Order: sequence, then structure tokens, then C-alpha cells
Amino acid sequence: MTELVDHETVLWPKCRSALDRDKSRMSAITELAESRLSGLSTEQKVAQLIQAELASVEPGDVREFGLGSILNGGGVFPDANKYASTEDWRKLASAFQSAARESASGIPILWGTDAVHGHNNVYGATIYPHNIALGAANDTDLVERLGAATAQDVLDSGIDWVFAPTLAVPCDYRWGRTLEGFSQDPEIVGRLGGAMTRGLQGDPTSAGFLDETHVLATSKHFVGEGSTADGIDQGNACCSEQVLLDVHAVGHISALKAGAQVVMAAFNSWNDEKVHGSSYLLQDVLKRQMGFDGFVVSDWDGFAQLESDIERACIRCINAGVDMLMVSSDWRGVYEHVLNSVESGQISTSRLDDAARRILRVKALNGMLSPTWNGPSMRQTRSLGSKATRKLAREAVRKSLVLLKNSNALLPLSPGQNVVVVGTSAHDIGKQCGGWTLTWQGTDNTADDFPHADSIASGIQTAVAGGGGVVTFVDDVDDETEADVAIVVFGEEPYAEGEGDLNHLSFSRDESEPLAQMRALQARGIPVVALFLTGRPRWINPELNASVAFVVCWLPGTQGGAVADILFRNAANEIRHDFVGRLSYSWPLDASMTCIDRDSDRPDSYLPVGYGLNYEDEVSFDTLSELDETTGTSHRGPSYQGSYNYPNP
Ligand code: BGC
Ligand code: BGC
Repeated sequence: MTELVDHETVLWPKCRSALDRDKSRMSAITELAESRLSGLSTEQKVAQLIQAELASVEPGDVREFGLGSILNGGGVFPDANKYASTEDWRKLASAFQSAARESASGIPILWGTDAVHGHNNVYGATIYPHNIALGAANDTDLVERLGAATAQDVLDSGIDWVFAPTLAVPCDYRWGRTLEGFSQDPEIVGRLGGAMTRGLQGDPTSAGFLDETHVLATSKHFVGEGSTADGIDQGNACCSEQVLLDVHAVGHISALKAGAQVVMAAFNSWNDEKVHGSSYLLQDVLKRQMGFDGFVVSDWDGFAQLESDIERACIRCINAGVDMLMVSSDWRGVYEHVLNSVESGQISTSRLDDAARRILRVKALNGMLSPTWNGPSMRQTRSLGSKATRKLAREAVRKSLVLLKNSNALLPLSPGQNVVVVGTSAHDIGKQCGGWTLTWQGTDNTADDFPHADSIASGIQTAVAGGGGVVTFVDDVDDETEADVAIVVFGEEPYAEGEGDLNHLSFSRDESEPLAQMRALQARGIPVVALFLTGRPRWINPELNASVAFVVCWLPGTQGGAVADILFRNAANEIRHDFVGRLSYSWPLDASMTCIDRDSDRPDSYLPVGYGLNYEDEVSFDTLSELDETTGTSHRGPSYQGSYNYPNP
């Protein structure tokens, strides 16, 4: 570790939740966990520390070893069937639970899944907008309801634990996980992270906390992942301890105060030391200073990044404070390594007991150690893809859209017009959902994969048909294209961690087709409304210049039809919904930018956090109409005569 870090000067706050004040409940939980722990052999304790991935584990293994947990990775399904029904998931979950109960320890198993925007790994689920969109909506009540609805879907499939919320504070938008972060503003991350945790788990002050309608949440990834150099995934976060606390830990503090019981260690390093191997961050800061008494789970094979010798890696990781190891495939090997290390004394029995005790306490708190517990799949609500979830998704979509530009008050549109919708993205649900949707990267999905979805195109179709207008859908613009107004839908292709990292933020440089379409429409005198699907702010000055109105739709999920609710007036020509979304990340107007410092001395070079137009105020930000398309600076104001030297060098 570098001299930058002075462990003596920074004080981390205690993060007590309402639970900790409920002394009688907590002492009963501790007692229950303790009594189960005392009956376990060393082997059984070690098995509690192992989380095996679904593709490499079967119920029979759980019966034999008494594993503590399983997970399904992104794009892993029961019987490798993407179209597995909720029933299939429940059946498999109950087979695992029965096996766990029949194992020698008899301790129920935890199943974790990445339900990060709805129950996104399950066919037929309603997919909600990604966190970046929820940050723009910035509505804690909405986020709490989304968490509660997700919990219901997850429970219905027999699963009791989700790897959410992500509490990153992305600083460099080239990072492919920017879309998973609510905001670059720690305050927003804290508010919404707490709300999502409460939604998933229930309010810790109420009897509903972790009851049969709630699931365990995960405060992830601890800590500093949004601050890696150049936005490189799993990279090195170089910042002072004070910045780590004041910026990157804010969401975690809030989730812990809301009662989060699991923390996932972050893949990144902090000042050259991997978090998975940092006993300072995990033991001293998180567990001792902050008082966290739940358990720490590693990220996907995170221990293996510490050393090439896996036994040494496991030793370092567990001794640094990781309590449960998430293993992609060779969980048997990892089990053996941990067992050997306990037997050789490299992992002390007190550390093993501490880790197992923490896991058992969380199971006890989740009701799983009670004699009447019968598995999370007892209650079935058939909520997956229900009308109620779709309605909630539509609300989330509407509230998250951000209007960047609306010259001549082009929006809201009257539905009684001739409308042309340009671009295949208008029909592309997979693109509207982005990464972490059915597959890990969100790629390889087709229209058939989304049975209850409503595309942006279908929403426009309904709005225009209801208002007496005519809509045509075209993939491209040509000499025949005629309309009163054009809607161009375009944006990023799906990606998730790693694959989504970029070298620069210029969308215009990578994707020339939408801009060419906008310019062709412009040349034909057809005003353009641009709808941008994206998981992060991108440099799009040329597209902003070529459009009359510009809406950032983020990654709205399966109910993209809701975009039309806000774009179009109703048949009586009344406004149905106004824009309430505001940027939760500042937006670069300078092609060379990759991150934005809120205290920058160049306020002209970006649109700030909080920016966003709406109808009621009738603000028309005309100055956006002439943005610099070439150089490192932006020019605003009507007098600027921009050049159109595209593509950007
Ligand atoms: C990601 C986590 C995720 C885990 C399980 C990791 O690669 O970083 O966010 O929860 O995989 O899918
Ligand atoms: C899994 C993801 C996981 C990733 C980590 C993928 O194969 O499906 O869940 O996060 O690997 O590398």
C-alpha cells in the first residue's frame, strides 16, 4: 500500500440499523446461530463458506457436502434452459433445499441471483430500467416499490437472496458498469441505495423485515469500484481514504443502516491492494469500525485474483475477512483448500467460526433456522410479468426520461400527425434492456425472449393510432420519406462488466448511421425527435445539433412503450405526463471528456447533475442547438457558427 493511506486519521462511522436496537430479537438470533454452530464439524463449517455456481453443482452435492450457498450467474438457468418457467426455478430450488435439509448439518441453503433490474435472469419477468435511469428519476418511494416487486418475483422462483443494490459512484464513464450506478453524486447513491435495500428486505423497524415477502439484499461492491483509473473494470482505485469514505462508501453506509446483511467485496484494488485481500478494509474498517455483523461474500472467483496458488489465495482472502467464497466451477477444490488450511492452522479455527457464525446469523435472521421454515417457495403469488409489475415499470420509465433539448417546444407531439419512426432500435427490446438481461452481457436475446414486453415502437403506434394520426416505421431514411415529424431511436448495444469498457466517450465516432439519418431528415425539412438508449452519458454533440428535441431514455427495460406516454399528447390534445427526470450524471459536451468533476472550472463543457427540461416550465434550451462538433471545447449561444466536420478526429 502507498503512503497515500494514513489509517490513523480517518474515522469510519458505526452503521447501526434499527435491528441492532431490537436487542431481544437479535439476542435470540445470535443464540440460535450459536447453537447450530456448536453442533457443526469442521467440515460442515467449511462447507457453509462455499457458494457454488449452478452450472457446476447438483442437489446431490449439497446433500453430500452441506454447502452453505449456491448462485446462478448471469445467463445460467435450470437445465440450461433460457425459457425455464418460474415453476422450473421453484422445483430446482426446492430440490436444493430438500438436499440441504437431508445433509448431515441439515442447514438450509442460500441461493443468490443478480436481480439488478427486476428478476432479470428469468424468462417472462418484467425488466425495470437500470440504476442509472432510477438515479435520474431520483424517487426513493419508486425505488423502494421496485425493490419490493423484485423481491416478490425472486421469492416466487424459490430464491431468497439478490446481489443488489450496486452502490458504485462511477467517476469515469468509460467504465462499462456505469449503468449499474445510480449517480455520480454520492448523496443520490446513498438515498436510492437505502431505498432499494428497504424495498428488497423490508423496513428493519417493521415486522415485515425479511418476512416471507422479502429477500436478502447485498451491498455491492465494497468499495471504490467507481474510481478505478481510466474507468477500467476491476482496476486500481487511487484515492485517499477520506475520498473512499466521503464518496465511495456513502451508498454502503446507507444500505447497512437500512439493514443490509451481506456485503460483496469489490474486484478492484484500492491503492494497489486488492480489496479481496485487504484485511484493513474488510476486517478493520467494515467489521470493526463500521460494526458490520452480517457476512462478506467474495465476488466471482475474486479470491483467485490474489495468488495463482489457489490454496494460498483462499487463505489470504478468508484471513482478510471474506466469509463466503463465490466459486464459478471448482468448488470441490476450494472446499478442500479451505479445509486443509484450517487443519494446518493457516486459517485459525476462530476465523472459521467467525465466518460460519456470520453466515448462520444471516440465515437465522432470514427465518431459515426456525423449525417451521419450509423454503422460500412456500408462497406463490404469480407476480412474474404481472400487470402490476408492468404498470410499475411504466411509471419508472416515465419518471427516468431526461429531456436535454426541446427547441421551438417541439414536444409534446400531437398524435394527430404523420409520424415516421426511424431505426431498428425502436423495436429492439434486448437493446432497451441492456446488460444483465437473460444473458450476462444482455446479448443474444430476440423478441421471443420477452413475452410481456412493450417496445418504444409499439407505444408510439398506440399513441398515434389513438389520436387519429398515421405512423410508419422505417429502418432508414430515403428520398421517399415524408412526415410531419420524425422520431429517431438509437443507442448503445447491450453490454455488462468488462465488455462495456470504452476508450473514449464519443458515440458519434463509433456509430455514424443515426447521425446520417438525422441529417437526411433535417435536409428534408422534417423535424427530428431523438431518443437515445444508453447506459451512460456519451458525447453526442452532432446528434444534439441534428435534432430539434432530444430525450435520453437510458435503458428502460421491457416497458419501453411508456416513452410515448410522455412524448405525445392525448387525443384531446392534453399533456399526459411531464418530464420529471433530471441528470444524475453530468453530461459531456466536450469530446475529450471521460469524467466530470462537479467543481470543474469549465461549466460550459458539460450539462450538470440536475439538468433536464420539462413542458410546464416551457424552457427551451436553444443554446444547445449549436454545440462544437470537433474540438476539445464547447461553444454555447446563438452566435456560434459551428462547423460540421464529422466524424470527429
Ligand atoms: C459481478 C457481480 C455479480 C457476480 C455474480 C460478478 O462478475 O461483478 O456483480 O453479482 O458476478 O454474477
Ligand atoms: C457469469 C456472470 C459472472 C461472470 C464473471 C459469467 O460467466 O454468467 O454472472 O459475473 O461470468 O466473469
